[in-house]
Amino acid sequence: MKTATKLIHNAHSVDPTTGALNTPVALTSTFAQKDIFVDQEFDYARSGNPTRKALEETIALLEGGAKGYAFSSGMAATSSVLGIFSAGDHVVAAEDIYGGSYRILNSFYKRFGLEHTAVDASDLNAIRAAVKPNTKAIFLETPSNPLLKITDLRGAIGAAKERDLITIIDNTFMTPLLQRPIELGADIVVHSATKFLGGHSDLVLGLAVAANDAIGRRIYQVQNGFGAVPSPFDCFLALRGIKTLKARLALEQASAQKLVAWLQNRDEVDRVYYPSIGDRAALHASQADGFGAVVSFKAKTPDLAIGFLKKVRLAATAVSLGGVETIASYPARMSHAAMPPEERKRLGVSDALVRVSVGLEDVDDLIDDFDKALR
Ligand SMILES: Cc1ncc(COP(=O)(O)O)c(C=O)c1O
Repeated sequence: MKTATKLIHNAHSVDPTTGALNTPVALTSTFAQKDIFVDQEFDYARSGNPTRKALEETIALLEGGAKGYAFSSGMAATSSVLGIFSAGDHVVAAEDIYGGSYRILNSFYKRFGLEHTAVDASDLNAIRAAVKPNTKAIFLETPSNPLLKITDLRGAIGAAKERDLITIIDNTFMTPLLQRPIELGADIVVHSATKFLGGHSDLVLGLAVAANDAIGRRIYQVQNGFGAVPSPFDCFLALRGIKTLKARLALEQASAQKLVAWLQNRDEVDRVYYPSIGDRAALHASQADGFGAVVSFKAKTPDLAIGFLKKVRLAATAVSLGGVETIASYPARMSHAAMPPEERKRLGVSDALVRVSVGLEDVDDLIDDFDKALR
């Protein structure tokens, strides 16, 4: 089956005990044990819960991995995955990974002795050059945020395999519907399911998928030990969101493409960033099945960008993305606010940059509204 069909038809399409077409929400913290001398699947809900299990098996199926794990946020997923490493280990990370992932590496994990080097991951030689004798993993995100830069997944995974390193890919922007890094050889995929998978801006949840059981066991040890697990109700919301992913993402992506073409012809806009634009478009198309629904644009001046955000009506000015509603964000004051201005400048995160996550509104209404706001 194609991924779109697996969104609907999988081991949890029909509840085996009742025939319900949705997974029951098991709101329980503990489970009665029939015989204390016989292990049973569920004993305590931090260790496992049937609703969470349904979500974990579903994301593992969609990503083509062996095991899935759910967490209380995307950052809990990333942090727990990084928790499989030890003091003295080293991680090579893309310099434009999600700001929260950069922060957890650069502050929290640094204090515990996990070293990291940030590199321009679009340059495979830079990745190779950053690998040290104690390097254990490469952490990537493609397309990147907010400039939608493309990393060569096959090339980077190949470079990691030369040195027996674990590759971790944040697949939040693409979702398994458009990109499946494990099929390209990655070891771990992480998600903020808060975004497209949940899809309705009504939950905070994270997921991790391990390509094989051995890595899965290491992640489970942190999931169970560290305990950053989601509520069963949020797992239900994520399962429900996943069922409509194709319909939402197909429409959002089509609208994003129309918006990109329109933005490219505006005098107020200096540059539009989208995976289909530029010399990495073919590379992206070779590793993903679509360009996604996130678009960034650099206005001619910061005042124009700020004026646009003040006037736009059909986009919420907010952090986050991947919801049914269009969201416009201002990276310099939101996702990248913690970054020193010189570093932002070096990475091209300009004060005139706006990131748009395109929602399900009629795109002609969006364009009309954007036109007024830009004027
Ligand atoms: C690409 C990416 N990864 C991870 C995260 C963190 O996810 P959460 O906010 O669910 O903790 C985000 C959140 O914005 C994100 O955009």
